[in-house]
Amino acid sequence: MINTRSNTHRAIVVLLLTFALSSSGTPAQGSSASGEQVNARVKALLSRMSLQEKIGQLSQVGALDLKPDQRKELGDLLPEDSVSIEDHVRRGEAGSILWTTDPVFISTLQHVAIEESRMKIPLLFGFDVIHGFRTIFPVPLAMAASWDPDLVENAQAVAAQEASAVGINWTFGPMVDIARDARWGRIVEGAGEDPFLGAALARAQVRGFQGQQLGTPGRVVGSVKHFAGYGAAQGGRDYDGAYIPEEQLRNVYLPPFKAAIDAGVGTVMSAYLDLNDVPASGNRFLLRDLLRRDLGFTGFVVSDAMAVRDLQTHGFARDPQDAAFRSLTAGVNMDMASLTYLRNLESLVQSGKLSVTRIDDAVRPILEVKIRMGLFEHPYADSSAAESILTDPEHLKLARVAAQRTMVLLRNEDSFLPLKKALASVAVIGPLADSEKEIQGSWGVEKAAKAVSVLEGVRAKLPSARVESVKGADLQRKYPSLVDKVFGINPAVPLSEDQLKNELDKAVEAARRTDTVVLVLGELANMSGETASRASLDLPGNQQHLLEAVVATGKPVVLVLLNGRPLNISWATEHVPAILEAWYPGTEGGNAIADILFGDANPEGKLPVSWPRTVGQVPIYYAHNLTHQPENDKNFTSRYLDVPTSPLYPFGYGLSYTQFAFSNLQLSGATLAPGGSLQVSIDVENAGGRSGNEVVQLYLHQRAGSVSRPVRELKGFQRTFLHPGEKKTVRFTVGKDELSFWSPESKAWVEESEEFDVWVGGDSTASLHASFRVASE
Ligand code: NOJ
Repeated sequence: MINTRSNTHRAIVVLLLTFALSSSGTPAQGSSASGEQVNARVKALLSRMSLQEKIGQLSQVGALDLKPDQRKELGDLLPEDSVSIEDHVRRGEAGSILWTTDPVFISTLQHVAIEESRMKIPLLFGFDVIHGFRTIFPVPLAMAASWDPDLVENAQAVAAQEASAVGINWTFGPMVDIARDARWGRIVEGAGEDPFLGAALARAQVRGFQGQQLGTPGRVVGSVKHFAGYGAAQGGRDYDGAYIPEEQLRNVYLPPFKAAIDAGVGTVMSAYLDLNDVPASGNRFLLRDLLRRDLGFTGFVVSDAMAVRDLQTHGFARDPQDAAFRSLTAGVNMDMASLTYLRNLESLVQSGKLSVTRIDDAVRPILEVKIRMGLFEHPYADSSAAESILTDPEHLKLARVAAQRTMVLLRNEDSFLPLKKALASVAVIGPLADSEKEIQGSWGVEKAAKAVSVLEGVRAKLPSARVESVKGADLQRKYPSLVDKVFGINPAVPLSEDQLKNELDKAVEAARRTDTVVLVLGELANMSGETASRASLDLPGNQQHLLEAVVATGKPVVLVLLNGRPLNISWATEHVPAILEAWYPGTEGGNAIADILFGDANPEGKLPVSWPRTVGQVPIYYAHNLTHQPENDKNFTSRYLDVPTSPLYPFGYGLSYTQFAFSNLQLSGATLAPGGSLQVSIDVENAGGRSGNEVVQLYLHQRAGSVSRPVRELKGFQRTFLHPGEKKTVRFTVGKDELSFWSPESKAWVEESEEFDVWVGGDSTASLHASFRVASE
């Protein structure tokens, strides 16, 4: 078992992992080729390619193995195609294949591409490797709660290594959509509400997936998504459009994309949403002005699945040909799965509407990425190494550490946790208590290793205690999951009224006869992710009922939440002494939860989102602007008449088994010149009884300026390890990057000569304060 409290142990794990990642035995590949060499190779290829072969490179073909009844049910979700995938590849009609994880099929197709197609251009195999492949790590929102970019990088490196072992060489991640509305199911896939944290984790994920450069052995090319603004979907409804003013787009939604691009991400995925009345996959302003011109992206853009075809569904394109034309000319290089490019671009060229030069421009970055990845030299995965990579025990160790670090202790009255290992009996109650499936979360977990449920984790931790388990409640989606339909997963049969009552009674009895209850509630994995928006944030099914019935027994209860979004836990916050947000912690989830509950690991996660009291507060985020009447004025205690304006738990918040004290906030000066920088330092002391990490967070506020600025913005954080009694000085540099913003007044990035507030502490309500001035003279 890994103890996060031990720095030495952690260093060993990291070392082992670094070794594992660097010693995969694959010869160095990738391209150290210069830009000129790459250009020359692309030029040579293009000069020999037919128009059809070029269009083939712009087409990504879906390889879903749908059964006839599924195909019938899914209707026109996917295009009808009478040509086999092998034949598409043989004829040079595919630049990439997606949605297959079968190593034999992947290898067969790559052999067809290399040996049987005229141009012998290797294929990219794309898959959603979002939080692991065989070893499942906590979901991205949870990983964000670690505030630990190194951990995030290492986890994505493992995911890349496992995926590439079966021949996948392209992941559709990182997903970096800022999300401030917990109703939106895809909030689980990103890093939460904050652009600064989001940017740090976007960078880390790109490094993890891709390594130092494209073509690093055992890594894959990333695809930062969904460009852009998808997380602002109106009403939190998935796929819905958004109206985002340019300043918000640039200051809030784009920074994580910029970070990923600066870190060298090879591809970008355009979004489904209709942004300011122009669907993102046909949006020239987004894809040309912002992405290429301003963010300097030089790789290639892939549409989201069917998004090219769906420009017509949006009521934007007239017909499929118009959709192909508008998407390509807006800047989408590759059409994901809709075959709209394959079926329409040729006639557009023949009719003179599109020039071959346009087509060449679209193909060029795709070939460049393939060359830079070293795919022409190393098109195949090494099948002999696959099994040992996929079953590497070091990966599980990292997954356990990751799960420990992502959990957020929301409440712990009178040091209720950690529990004593000497307990004679424990009841692990709840519909998610013994689910190895739900604990993994959704997305790309089809090939996952068997996961450890909470019940299994508690049993392993307390071998001599009586540990029993009851479901106690049931939960279901009212409308089935599209993703489940695509993957052929049938929903469970719901319990009848009698069965529900029986379960509840059994749960109450189990609680009565045990020392302590671990209540595991939350959401099914398919209640988060794509097509998983909710209009309510209440505990689904009859879980609230179960919660209240179990608490009413008077037994000590700890609530463990498995979920991908903040839920309404206002009642629990008043009646349950300890609440642990465990998210969907992945393969080692049950063990990691037991580690935290019984004190073998310290909870150190911090919320990457503001936690609303009720759904009526969303969208809610800490970095809002001031109003004319701040709500902490004596006449205005809240801007609602029925709940406080503040969230239930603030952004950046999370308790620990030890306590940290902040003091001595110092600035290196009271003023700085534009373009200059100053140092901010603070002392942090571990004033409690055990070792742990605190995430020290720095927030800034510009008091006046050309426009109003948010009350606080995160501009620095450092995860800091302290032994009991130890004190450290943590230092931050504040300069142009931290002080600039895109001003709608000057339509440019500006650093204004104004007064600034700075706060440093353990969450976004930090109270230690200082101020400084940016002064031109
Ligand atoms: C649709 C999703 O929006 C996107 O995130 C995903 O990468 C693609 N499908 C491919 O599976």
